[in-house]
Amino acid sequence: MLVSAKDMLQKARAEGYGVAQININNLEWIKAVLSTVQELNSPVILGVSEGAAKYMGGYENVMAMVTALDKAMKITVPVAVHLDHGTYEGAFKAIRAGFTSVMFDGSHYPFEENLKKTKEVVAVAHACGVSVEAEVGSIGGEEDGVIGLGEVADIEECRIIAETGVDLFAAGIGNIHGKYPANWPGLRFDVLENVAKVTNGVPLVLHGGTGIPADQIKKAISLGIAKINVNTELQLAFAAATREYILAGKDLESKGFDPRKLLDPGYKAMKKVVAEKLEMFGSVNKA
Ligand code: 13P
Repeated sequence: MLVSAKDMLQKARAEGYGVAQININNLEWIKAVLSTVQELNSPVILGVSEGAAKYMGGYENVMAMVTALDKAMKITVPVAVHLDHGTYEGAFKAIRAGFTSVMFDGSHYPFEENLKKTKEVVAVAHACGVSVEAEVGSIGGEEDGVIGLGEVADIEECRIIAETGVDLFAAGIGNIHGKYPANWPGLRFDVLENVAKVTNGVPLVLHGGTGIPADQIKKAISLGIAKINVNTELQLAFAAATREYILAGKDLESKGFDPRKLLDPGYKAMKKVVAEKLEMFGSVNKA
């Protein structure tokens, strides 16, 4: 059942669990996520980056695939289709294509511009019943081998952006996309506590979910995090299982080259990661 992310995240925040945003890349990803959340009776958010949308043939095709699979697989749990780290233009395109939720990531703009653009996206999205995520303080990550630790959000900026009426709010709290370096000091819970104080109960978002230990995830949820984004971990699991299949020579046995067989270990490995995350975040049986 395709819905906006608003109600599912308010429920999560009120009841003290997290909803997973799992980023999707193709048919196998969508099926792995939808089948697992239906089995575990959990809500979910399908994250779609602009690059992934382009890879899948554009926003319309993403919505066509997800809508058809939601129906064919008889999915009854709440599923939001969410633009991840959207540009200003991308947010409007995704809304037009039928996305049920969008992130406008204006964290790299000067603050006044982030605020102005966030307000414009909120006005249009809300008129269409679409939920909006905003971001203050960029999330770090690896780019060309250089790992940025990200910015820590400015608390006053968080307060002002939360007042725009956004439905979910991401603040940089020392989290990073991709693998965490060995010397990562951990999440800045002091910052998260302050962000929660000034954002008036808006469900908070934790990006860079791959590799954050369970105890830190649980503490973050207890401080107001209601959505945790996971992307890299599924990619790693899919690649490792596919590598193992090929290194074992299974693609050379009988019809092992058939993509329905070749991609199956990766598909199953992704389902396992999704199930682990739903358990860890506490959203099992919360549909
Ligand atoms: P990871 O790739 O580190 O799991 O981060 C995902 C994310 O935050 C997407 O916005």
